[in-house]
Amino acid sequence: MSHTTASLFSPIRIGSLALPARLFKTATAETRADASGGVTDAVVDFYRLLAKGETPLIVTGNIYVNRQGKSAPRQLGADEDGKIEGLRRITGVVHGFGGRIFAQLNHCGRQVVPDFVGAPEVVSASGVTELLTGTRPRALGSDEIGALVTAFAEAARRCQAAGFDGVQLHSANGYLLSQFLTPYTNRRGDEYGGSLENRTRFAREILAAIRLRCGDDFPVIMKLNGADRLPLRPGLDTEDLVAVALRMQEAGIDAVEITVGHYESGFPMVCGTFDLCLRHMVDGSMAQLPFVRRTAMRWFRPLVAWASNHLWKGREGFNLDYAPAFARRLSIPVICVGGFRSRAAMEDAIGRGLCGAVSAGRAFIADPFLFRHLRDGQAGPRCVDCNGCVGHLGAQPADCYHPLVGADKRAMLAREDSD
Ligand SMILES: Cc1cc2nc3c(=O)[nH]c(=O)nc-3n(C[C@H](O)[C@H](O)[C@H](O)COP(=O)(O)O)c2cc1C
Repeated sequence: MSHTTASLFSPIRIGSLALPARLFKTATAETRADASGGVTDAVVDFYRLLAKGETPLIVTGNIYVNRQGKSAPRQLGADEDGKIEGLRRITGVVHGFGGRIFAQLNHCGRQVVPDFVGAPEVVSASGVTELLTGTRPRALGSDEIGALVTAFAEAARRCQAAGFDGVQLHSANGYLLSQFLTPYTNRRGDEYGGSLENRTRFAREILAAIRLRCGDDFPVIMKLNGADRLPLRPGLDTEDLVAVALRMQEAGIDAVEITVGHYESGFPMVCGTFDLCLRHMVDGSMAQLPFVRRTAMRWFRPLVAWASNHLWKGREGFNLDYAPAFARRLSIPVICVGGFRSRAAMEDAIGRGLCGAVSAGRAFIADPFLFRHLRDGQAGPRCVDCNGCVGHLGAQPADCYHPLVGADKRAMLAREDSD
């Protein structure tokens, strides 16, 4: 695909959907749902701000497709028809500002601490223990995979009924779909394991089932790793993942968004600093880890933070290490997430054709009006990659927890309220 004449503010199409510009809000778990995964006022408020900021496309945080796929206590669900009405509150507020919004559909597979969500059992492509959490999953039977395909498709149908403009399949970062793609986590000997054709079968069946329910015009995109980054383990490299993307393009996916890594990779997915992040994490999402792991985490926290600060330094556009390889080979739009903060870095990536669009997570958590601010040349609260938001992930609402940047954000919102 030729992106060479595009700019940040030129329009782009994703399937049947025309978008006015090329900076999107990527998925960040809201941690604001009620205990049964329903939409609350706090969820609606989160999206109201992003829509007010004129964000061209918003992708929700990951939404579980069935109870077994839930990874955090206050995560949104699309697992039953009774949730459609609540979900419609999100699309209503975004459409009210003229915005567009996709729902990110997910099943966490083995990347979960069972006690955190009260999960009776954990499933995956194969029974490979997750090294970070120690969670040992059970391999799915092929009859169960069919039921999961239906769960994804039904969740998409509910999201379409709730007014979402499209859905994103979370096929990255080591969650269930990614567990099927990666040979390290997929050791199956049946038609869902082995060759690329087999490892993509689950994703392709989900796509086909969504098309049957939602029609060909309903945009379906994928979040995909640019590299698995699983040293010493059989993970996928960029060439392998480009082949996956090409196969999914052939199957009819409308765009891919490029990220990086699994939980077991460490933190390449959120490059930055990790002191604040790890301090919060040991008392948040990690608090339910088995005793030995939790204690080790407490003892070694300063060392882990120091090493992580060196290994995964923050920089703008860190997944541009991979995205151009996809942009060169695919005809559908390639969206690159990872570290984007400034208009210059975004303009450069799109202007040079390294990707078709860019997306950002933490920068929008710090400044929900980021798009409008960049477009109009106004300064807003600027994310400093402290990863305080990551430290609270799954335990506290997604928000900016940096003392100074967070204070800037609250002051900005207070001014906005008084206008
Ligand atoms: C608080 C938080 C929650 C996240 N939740 C999700 C999620 O639900 N789904 C997903 O695909 N990625 C999730 N991510 C990863 C982001 O989508 C993105 O890949 C990452 O933050 C890097 O982009 P950034 O530098 O623009 O923040 C989350 C990141 C943060 C900081």
